[in-house]
Amino acid sequence: MNKVKIAKCDLDASEISLGCMRIADLTDQQIDTLIHTALDEGINFFDYADIYSDGQAEARFAEALNMTPSLREKMILQTKCVHRYTYYDASKEHILEAVDGSLKRLRTDFIDVLLLHRPDALVEPEEVAEAFTILEKNGKVKYFGVSNHNPMQIELLGKFVKQPIIINQLQLSITNTGMIDAGLNANMKVDASIDRDGSILDYCRLKEITIQVWSPFQYGFFEGMFLNNDKFPALNQKIDEIAASRGVTNTAIAIAWLLRHPAKMQPIVGTTNPSRVKDICKASGVNLTRQEWYEIYLAAGNKIP
Ligand SMILES: NC(=O)c1ccc[n+]([C@@H]2O[C@H](COP(=O)([O-])OP(=O)(O)OC[C@H]3O[C@@H](n4cnc5c(N)ncnc54)[C@H](OP(=O)(O)O)[C@@H]3O)[C@@H](O)[C@H]2O)c1
Repeated sequence: MNKVKIAKCDLDASEISLGCMRIADLTDQQIDTLIHTALDEGINFFDYADIYSDGQAEARFAEALNMTPSLREKMILQTKCVHRYTYYDASKEHILEAVDGSLKRLRTDFIDVLLLHRPDALVEPEEVAEAFTILEKNGKVKYFGVSNHNPMQIELLGKFVKQPIIINQLQLSITNTGMIDAGLNANMKVDASIDRDGSILDYCRLKEITIQVWSPFQYGFFEGMFLNNDKFPALNQKIDEIAASRGVTNTAIAIAWLLRHPAKMQPIVGTTNPSRVKDICKASGVNLTRQEWYEIYLAAGNKIP
């Protein structure tokens, strides 16, 4: 497993992360096997949010593993706050209380990375700044980032927040490529040229903010998997062809496609299946050619001018 260099921090992070949004209903044994398989394969970065299964994803993880300091040392734990199901809350009070809840459920003294899960329309960046400074000073959070934020929202936070924003977690998959399409179609009179995110991809590269990719196997908004799906025949044919030539599964190629991007993104994979974890980790050794990367992009139905 290769490492990803996340700027402005000392985290030695695996280039693939395991997202634990879907683990709450697994048995203790299944969670233990899943997490230890990930660790054995070189994944040391685990993603949570306070709202995943109403806190149960965090709690079940720590319970099932019977979290100990020596196990904790092997892990980089990231969680998120702000999402309150029916509204967003980036107030100082809520950020502080949410972190205390996550620390308790995760059975740890500190969170490596805290993300603001979604932009709050009522955000007071001064309050976020106060909360981050308190959390940093009392040692509860080491580093800070955001999720689903556009460049101006990050700039606004940055006017007040003293700590660097090291991560922006965004949706991206071979079938969800808005942030790539807009750049490829700049100044064209086609829908693909519509910039819906303020050029977030180039912005993050410029500012050295690592993009973490959520739902890397899903199409639409969690509508389902694109792999082995009849809705995407050309794409699956192309991925299968490249997978066969590289001696890996289609699952690995879907992640290798993301890793090939020079922005050095970190995919967050959400499988709960240990054998899929092993398949996915093989992506770390595959370096797609530029031509293969474009062939996959086009097979998903995209066009280049
Ligand atoms: N920041 C945000 O707003 C946000 C939003 C959503 C998610 N996230 C994060 O992103 C992580 C990943 O999201 P996700 O779970 O939607 O992503 P995903 O990795 O695209 O999807 C995983 C799901 O696909 C299924 N699947 C079926 N065939 C698969 C195959 N061949 N390879 C891999 N998976 C296969 C998995 O089932 P099995 O378990 O049976 O393998 C699992 O249910 C979450 O855990 C969470 O940490 C963040």
